[in-house]
Amino acid sequence: MEPSQFTEACWGRVVRTPRGHWAFVPNPLPPPLEWTDSLVSLLSRADRALGELSGLGENLPNPHLLIYPFVRKEAVLSSRIEGTQSSLSDLLLFEATKVEKQRDVREVQNYVKALEYGIKRLEELPLGLRLIRELHGILMEGVSGERAAPGEFRRSQNWIGPGNCAVEEATYVPPPVSEMMEALDGLEKFLHADAELPQLVQLALTHYQFEAIHPFIDGNGRIGRLLVSLFLCQRGILAKPLLYLSAFFERYRQEYYSRLLRVSQRGEWREWLEFFLRAVVEQCHDALARSRRLLDLHRSYYDRSLERKLTPATRQLMELVFRVPVVTTRSVQASLGLTFAGARKAIEVLERENILEEVTGRKRNRAYAAGEVLRILEEEVPARSVGRQVELPCRETKSAWEAAPPQAGSLSSQVVEISGRPQSEHQWGVPAFAIGRRPLRSRWVAPPGSHCLASPW
Ligand SMILES: Nc1ncnc2c1ncn2[C@@H]1O[C@H](COP(=O)(O)OP(=O)(O)O)[C@@H](O)[C@H]1O
Ligand SMILES: [Mg+2]
Repeated sequence: MEPSQFTEACWGRVVRTPRGHWAFVPNPLPPPLEWTDSLVSLLSRADRALGELSGLGENLPNPHLLIYPFVRKEAVLSSRIEGTQSSLSDLLLFEATKVEKQRDVREVQNYVKALEYGIKRLEELPLGLRLIRELHGILMEGVSGERAAPGEFRRSQNWIGPGNCAVEEATYVPPPVSEMMEALDGLEKFLHADAELPQLVQLALTHYQFEAIHPFIDGNGRIGRLLVSLFLCQRGILAKPLLYLSAFFERYRQEYYSRLLRVSQRGEWREWLEFFLRAVVEQCHDALARSRRLLDLHRSYYDRSLERKLTPATRQLMELVFRVPVVTTRSVQASLGLTFAGARKAIEVLERENILEEVTGRKRNRAYAAGEVLRILEEEVPARSVGRQVELPCRETKSAWEAAPPQAGSLSSQVVEISGRPQSEHQWGVPAFAIGRRPLRSRWVAPPGSHCLASPW
């Protein structure tokens, strides 16, 4: 680490390690912040986007429809930043069959386990050092080598730099062990204090600080990003873990690293905050766009199930593949409480419908993937604009809606998605109302005052 790159404005102090190398000790949070117009406006956009995503999550007929795949998406992408190679399909295939193609998949699954564990554990434990160590224990479970040290803060110096560089070539050396604990205690205090700061700012500061302290031998990046998901849930900002922020950090990995470094070297907090808030906005929009496409597909499968008069078991499987897009006969049997033959039969029907496809090419231990669902989850798409929010006169009953549909023209050629709890017999999806050029279609009616989103057709 080159001390001359740490200017007077750097966020902390440069010290010598016991072995005589240079290291950096960050100051306790919070830093003085400069509230520029662009920062304030980004903050408000990020809050709004999170509110929309949270609203969608809360009003889904079945929230697991999105939680299961989105949590896994976060796990895959956060682990990919650290070099693991597995894809979402690899992970889902492994979860269905327990047969692993690569060792990496296990690490990604540990990430899922840690995230799920953390969310449960937050019911009884605050977000602090104890929980952080527990999460690390799960993340590093079964990971061989001395670098793992599951659940233990480091007792030796570590550093960040290209490849497996020597400490002399490191770009950043976190606090020596003797200073590390104090820095961690400070971070915990900051997390527990009722800061006056906006929560998202507090979160962005926390992520930087955790990475700057780098308290584990390995796994710091992943634990720091897990903390982001947990913080959002703990503070009630997101009711469900639907945000996969790591996708943004992975896409802009170099910038992510250099923004963190620049806070340490030059105290560039505003730039880091803006980067972090942009990540929130973009990833909320991405999650909303994918959710909408999944719900559309869900709806079209539902229509098809009625048309073809599919059996209840087959319809249940149709629902299941949105939550768990890769299944086996055994997993279907267990999830839906069917007989082996019943599960087989339902799978066969969905194969004929081209909803499921066998993906292993084996004769035994076969697995079936829901291709269209996976495509929506995995596709690299530029985030689509969420569209503007509109107020709709929500009626109380379906017949009232049909008797007096909203004026065509007021929302001409737009699809309006209404998230709310279904009140009728239909449990499927969010209703779509096409007003204007296309005929009005309504499946169920959202309760008065529910959340309405409009986006271009
Ligand atoms: N200059 C930096 N200062 C602080 N943290 C950094 C810096 N550059 C990268 N990082 C963080 O360090 C992480 C890598 O640390 P590491 O302990 O190997 O985590 P993991 O095993 O999860 O990869 C990156 O993902 C990033 O979050
Ligand atoms: Mg690592």
